[in-house]
Amino acid sequence: NTKAFIFDLDGVIVDTAKYHYLAWQKIATELNIEFTHEHNELLKGVSRVRSLDIILELGKVEASQEDKNRWLVQKNEDYLSYLVDMDASEILPGVFPILKFLKENNQPIALGSASKNARPILEKTGLLSYFDAIVDGNDVTNAKPDPEVFLMAAKLLNIKPEDSIVFEDSVAGVQAANIGNMTSVGIGEANTLHEAKYIFKDFTAIDTNFIEEIIRK
Ligand code: BG6
Ligand code: MG
Repeated sequence: NTKAFIFDLDGVIVDTAKYHYLAWQKIATELNIEFTHEHNELLKGVSRVRSLDIILELGKVEASQEDKNRWLVQKNEDYLSYLVDMDASEILPGVFPILKFLKENNQPIALGSASKNARPILEKTGLLSYFDAIVDGNDVTNAKPDPEVFLMAAKLLNIKPEDSIVFEDSVAGVQAANIGNMTSVGIGEANTLHEAKYIFKDFTAIDTNFIEEIIRK
């Protein structure tokens, strides 16, 4: 049996969600907008442009397109500064063994990320060669919870959506997988990700029996 295993990037493969948060927080602070960890959950899985709009809405701030563009550039420069020294040590615990297991079992693997910085991150962490397909923020027009990113990934792998498994740490991403008729696996807090079919606190909690069972189904 062959299934498609589709991984989100930020917060699933690498712990970059914290860097996105820090970079947005800096902008929010400059604009005098309160921006908590809970607010940040709304931004996970969401595109850069939409994230800024959400922050501005939180602070009820109206801004010109010029200002917005400046903040978007500033946010990304700040974010990228956190990634300069990134290497394989930033791969989240348990991820590498699962990727290896999937490869050994000839299961196709794809990336399904909203980020436009996905490829350099996979390169820096040495994971690029594990992915048979990469769909990222440069490829899609509709952001999660629209399933476009995952549907495109499954299509590239030549696997039907119902035979696809999506690993996601964001609410929007879990919803996208569900709407796309895929099996959603939430990585994180059960309270936050309750819409997922399965939930694990991280990849160390996923054993190979679980993966084998999914392949067999
Ligand atoms: C998602 C992150 O993976 O990518 C979001 O969860 C981020 O926090 C989005 O805003 C876009 O990323 P980037 O790297 O293109 O700004
Ligand atoms: Mg994520």
